Amino acid sequence: MQSVTQLQRLKNNQQKISMVTCYDYWSAQLVAASSMDCLLVGDSLAVVMHGYASTVHATLDLMLPHVSAVARGAGSKLVVADMPFMTASGDLSSGVTAATALIQAGAHAVKIEGAGHQALLIEHLVEAGIPVVGHLGLTPQSVLQLGGHRVQAKDEAAARCLVSDAEKVEAAGAAALVLECVPAKVAAEIAKVLRIPVIGIGAGVDVDGQVLVLQDLLGANPGFKPKFLRKYADLSSSIGQALDRYHDDVQSGAFPARCESYA
Ligand code: KIV
Repeated sequence: MQSVTQLQRLKNNQQKISMVTCYDYWSAQLVAASSMDCLLVGDSLAVVMHGYASTVHATLDLMLPHVSAVARGAGSKLVVADMPFMTASGDLSSGVTAATALIQAGAHAVKIEGAGHQALLIEHLVEAGIPVVGHLGLTPQSVLQLGGHRVQAKDEAAARCLVSDAEKVEAAGAAALVLECVPAKVAAEIAKVLRIPVIGIGAGVDVDGQVLVLQDLLGANPGFKPKFLRKYADLSSSIGQALDRYHDDVQSGAFPARCESYA
């Protein structure tokens, strides 16, 4: 049975957690066959898969087919799904409705950005049996408020505030915390103070795990080059070359060959 308790076990054993965001059945199968610890169906799908400018365009209706596709491909891996824009910021019942739909689509936990009124929802969901992963630092759903995708908690006051928010998320019952784009020193402090695992993206090495978007780490998103990203492949070049070769073979008649044709 997939459970967020696996993540706690990894932290307790001082083993780092690897998490990757993916959005579809095909890529979930690839991740399932790898040694990756867990998958996230991120609301970044609004940007990466649907071409929107930010994650505020991810609705529950947009997310659900991706969550169920990933869940079908994920095998025995843990699947976490993002609560889309505003579903964790209204009344408790709309949060419960969204979380229920994500879990029924196949997620094993939901991820919630923020530590203000969201703490109450986290508490409520956990009490009802839905595991929650928190998300602090750069919270992309607040991009309009933050004025862009910027590194957060850069001064001492903001760092104190972030540590206190992280403690609030843990106290509300979250099973893990994603920390995005914060100074490595602040992230390290939070990972030390919290009992639950802290998974970083742009949060340095002294946290309990790392998360990247699959397309980004595979180099399939050539224009996206934030400081925190390491590209483990150059998929956009490989795909471009394969498509050009296929096109050339079609044009020249080199494809299909006799052995690729029925007698
Ligand atoms: O939406 C997403 O993919 C995320 C990760 C980048 C943390 O929230």
